Amino acid sequence: MSHQSNDILKILILHGPNLDMLGSRDPKFYGRLTLDKLNKKIREKAKKLNVSVKIHQFNSEEKIIKTLHRQRKICDGVVINPAAFTHYSYAIRDAIELIKIPVVEVHLSNIYEREDFREISVTKDVCIHQIYGKKENSYLEGMEYLVNYLLKENKNN
Ligand code: DQA
Repeated sequence: MSHQSNDILKILILHGPNLDMLGSRDPKFYGRLTLDKLNKKIREKAKKLNVSVKIHQFNSEEKIIKTLHRQRKICDGVVINPAAFTHYSYAIRDAIELIKIPVVEVHLSNIYEREDFREISVTKDVCIHQIYGKKENSYLEGMEYLVNYLLKENKNN
C-alpha cells in the first residue's frame, strides 16, 4: 500500500557501482546511453506511469544499504541494479529482505550469457522479479512491473 494513501506511488531507482560510467562501458553489454540519459528515460517513464521517482547511484555497498533502510518508510517500491554486488553481496540481500517493500532487480546485460561468476545472483530470491538483457528497457520494464504489482497490492488491501 502507498505509504501516504491517496498519494501517488513513490518509486526508488538505485544504480549500483560503475553505472556512473555508462557511456564508457562496453556498449555490447550496456548500450551507449550515459547515466544521465538513462535517468532521463526513467523520469519520462515515471511520468507515463504517473508515479514519482527518486534516483540514486552509489559505488559503495554502505550507501546502497543505508538508502534502502532510509527509504523503506518513504517509498512504495524499489527498482535496483546492484551491478557487481549482485553476485556476492549478502549484505545487500539482507537489506532488500528486511525493508519489506517490493524490489525488482534489473540488469542492462544478460548476466546468464557472460562470465560464470555473473550467473549467480544472491539478491534475486528476495526480489519480486528479475529483468535482464534488455539494456535500458530492463529498467523501464522493471518500473512497469513494480507499478502493476503495487496497484494490485493496493486493490487487495
Ligand atoms: C550489470 C551486470 C553486472 O554483472 C555488472 O557487474 C554490472 C552491471 C548489468 O546491468 O548488466 O556492473 O548489473
